[in-house]
Amino acid sequence: MNMLNKKSSFLTVLIVACMSLFLAACGGADGAKKTGSDGGKKLVGGTEATFAPFESMNDKGEIVGIDVDVMNAIAAASGFGFELQNVGWEPVFQKITSGELDFGAAGITITDERKQTYDFTDPYYQANLVIVVKEGSPIKSVDDLKDKKVAVQINTTGHKAAQDLLGKSNTNISAYENQPTAMQQVRNGSADAAIGDNAVVFEYMKNNKNTGLKVIEDDKFEKEFYGFMVKKGNKEVLDLLNEGLKKIKENGELEKITGQKLE
Ligand code: ARG
Repeated sequence: MNMLNKKSSFLTVLIVACMSLFLAACGGADGAKKTGSDGGKKLVGGTEATFAPFESMNDKGEIVGIDVDVMNAIAAASGFGFELQNVGWEPVFQKITSGELDFGAAGITITDERKQTYDFTDPYYQANLVIVVKEGSPIKSVDDLKDKKVAVQINTTGHKAAQDLLGKSNTNISAYENQPTAMQQVRNGSADAAIGDNAVVFEYMKNNKNTGLKVIEDDKFEKEFYGFMVKKGNKEVLDLLNEGLKKIKENGELEKITGQKLE
């Protein structure tokens, strides 16, 4: 081989090496949108992260809580990757409908009304509503709420319960973007009571001492079950979630995370 040939074959190797590096880089960047680090599918979920212990932001700006832990376990069991975005409560629903999000993980109660537009996984947590009032309030039960000012998180089961009790367009109902803001209204006296999800209310009471608030439990509130939510007919994602959920129910992981035994 003469000098020229040697040189040109070296060049060829160099060009081929550069090209494959370039292609690998491109492939990686593009593929990352659709696949997780393990090569499996990568999903995008949405939540509203002022709902501790299910989802809240830690001081590093990460979303943490039971929903994140359950989703991590499901993803590991079912072999997919996911990213969770804190988009806000109503946007969770809108963005699943528009296809921007694959699923919702936000302590979402499975209801017949929602089932007309969305599909839910099997339940992963049992909950119920409770009432929050000021200590010394004359309100003792659900029946005492009728002519009172009630604060709720908008378009939640608590909102629906208030409408059923007071009438759908009763102006005594005020609806807020999140549950802590609804409870804040009772603290500052602009509402007589708030209705919210039990675990979240109790977590709020634990984290906010000396609020002068107390919790009333009433078994007139029906049992609720949380599920992960997808767009109606999105069988691909629903199956992935249910498959992992089934595994972590069977191996006891779910119970370990939630501290609750589901039948
Ligand atoms: N479980 C209630 C519902 O589905 C409230 C859920 C609110 N979740 C949240 N992340 N803010 O209506």
